[in-house]
Amino acid sequence: ASITPLKTAFASYFPIGTAFTNDEMYGENANLMKKHFASVTPGNALKWDATEPTEGSFNFTSSDEAVQFAVDNGMKVRGHTLVWHNQTPNWVFYDSNSQLVTKEVLYARLKAHIDAVVGRYKGKIYAWDVANEVIDESQSDGMRRSLWYQIAGDEYIEKAFEYAHAADPDAKLFINDYNTHIPAKAQFLHDLVQRLKAKGVPIDGIGEQTHINIDYPALSQIEDSIVKFSDLGVTQEITELDMSIYTSSSQSYTSLSTTLATQQATRYAALFEIFKKYKDQISNVTFWGQDDAHSWLRTSPVTRLDWPLLFDDNLQSKSAYWSLVNALTVP
Ligand code: G3I
Repeated sequence: ASITPLKTAFASYFPIGTAFTNDEMYGENANLMKKHFASVTPGNALKWDATEPTEGSFNFTSSDEAVQFAVDNGMKVRGHTLVWHNQTPNWVFYDSNSQLVTKEVLYARLKAHIDAVVGRYKGKIYAWDVANEVIDESQSDGMRRSLWYQIAGDEYIEKAFEYAHAADPDAKLFINDYNTHIPAKAQFLHDLVQRLKAKGVPIDGIGEQTHINIDYPALSQIEDSIVKFSDLGVTQEITELDMSIYTSSSQSYTSLSTTLATQQATRYAALFEIFKKYKDQISNVTFWGQDDAHSWLRTSPVTRLDWPLLFDDNLQSKSAYWSLVNALTVP
């Protein structure tokens, strides 16, 4: 039987995307990607440590290959990410005496980086995760105490959006975060976007990463956040979807049982019912990988296996895949 491509199954709802690493641009992984996905996100190739490891010395080898692969195959590209507290080289924040730089120096470095990276892919990358994971709901003001924040307060966020907009006025600009189902976190994120909009900062959307597991969170919490954000006049994209089979750190399985595979499939289907219901708010749904073997949850050193995605280690469709496609297929 022929397998319905995911992108075809969801064509009337939203583009379906996947993150990928450059080793997936060849062979069977490439075929799977071209068949099923309308949109891709380079998982690491566009991050600061990859593109500008030392000041002013850019390395676009991996990112050029990744973006060209997508363009050649007619896939949209999400750019990930411009401002983050991880995978950002230390030189960005420090001077030659190992002191934190002034915010003026930080902004000059940020602008030079964004000009180069966003400018290079102008017209090829339709959306950028401009600011990634800036919310920390345990802080009274909700702002993560990153080096960005320590140097510049929360102003660096609007600078990043302004620089990105100047570098590519047509790109859709996102603020992206995880655990957006947590009500306090969602509220801080909502209110930050509201303040940015009120100031005229060019922000187009909220990215909801959606790294979840087979039991947590309640899907109603995910829905509540989608609804909460819908009064902001911005679009929403599900940017990094996956579903670990683990509900506690003490668990460790050597294979995916039928019971767990079925539970995962049922939950993925229910989650997509929510996404479909809010298709007018949601402009993309991207998985954080195609097959389980390439999941970040297997990043070395792999301490335990996990099976969070739609395709198995051999690139075969899992129950999770069928639950999504069958839910749309007229028998
Ligand atoms: O490139 C080095 C390589 O030179 C070295 O030999 C090797 C040794 O471990 O590490 C390689 O770097 C790894 C890098 O991925 C590229 O493969 C890092 O160790 C590893 O930590 C890094 O993991 C990435 C992670 O972000 C880092 O924060 C994952 O691939 C990537 O999928 C993951 O993606 C993040 C999103 O950007 C933001 N949201 C959460 C999501 C999952 O953590």
